[in-house]
Amino acid sequence: MMDLNDGVIINSIFYNLIELEKDCWNRLVNGAIRGRDAFHTPCVGSISNGEVSMRTMVLRKALPIERVLRFHTDIRSRKWEELALNQSISALFYDASARIQLRVKGKAKLHYDDDITSEAWQKTALSSRRSYLTKNPPSSFSDIPTSGLSENIEQEKFTLEESEVGQEHFGIVAIQVESIDWLWLNHAGHRRAFFDYISDEYHWMVP
Ligand SMILES: Cc1cc2nc3c(=O)[nH]c(=O)nc-3n(C[C@H](O)[C@H](O)[C@H](O)COP(=O)(O)O)c2cc1C
Repeated sequence: MMDLNDGVIINSIFYNLIELEKDCWNRLVNGAIRGRDAFHTPCVGSISNGEVSMRTMVLRKALPIERVLRFHTDIRSRKWEELALNQSISALFYDASARIQLRVKGKAKLHYDDDITSEAWQKTALSSRRSYLTKNPPSSFSDIPTSGLSENIEQEKFTLEESEVGQEHFGIVAIQVESIDWLWLNHAGHRRAFFDYISDEYHWMVP
């Protein structure tokens, strides 16, 4: 049974399980908004032919009500293909100054050519649009070290209008979060909690 009088005190603030779950999402929202936040660049894991596949990604959006996290990527990338075949996805966050780790698990939803991708693409700066303008797909082998971009694109000598073709390769990986595993490292004893959105149960755990 969840007793809301039980909790942890972090930086002089008391959190019961309900408040702690809210704090997780506050941290994720901050991570998406603030480029220098420790939660801005989690490691995102997927499954490729039964093997673990991980990469760093920029957290672009965190939606607490919907329990959704969003990331931008090239639809020609391996992860896109992997996630289309197997929706299992996980994101690992660690804030060393707060000593908080979040292990987020869920199902991936791939957005392409919809209202969500259109809006995000409109807000994507010229320098970031370059990522979607490589001639060959990400992970293609090359005889020489290369960015995959033509020289003018590499040097940002192109107009916003010329960058629009990149939208063809622009996709959004959304995680529909199904659980959050929270861990706080503390000299007086670590603490851990599990928020399960499938069964709608929140638990303390032995770290
Ligand atoms: C700090 C950092 C941020 C990154 N952000 C993204 C990102 O938001 N989206 C993305 O597709 N790749 C991003 N990458 C590159 C990926 O880590 C990865 O190398 C690339 O997407 C190919 O992955 P894949 O072969 O699994 O598709 C980032 C890499 C670093 C180091």
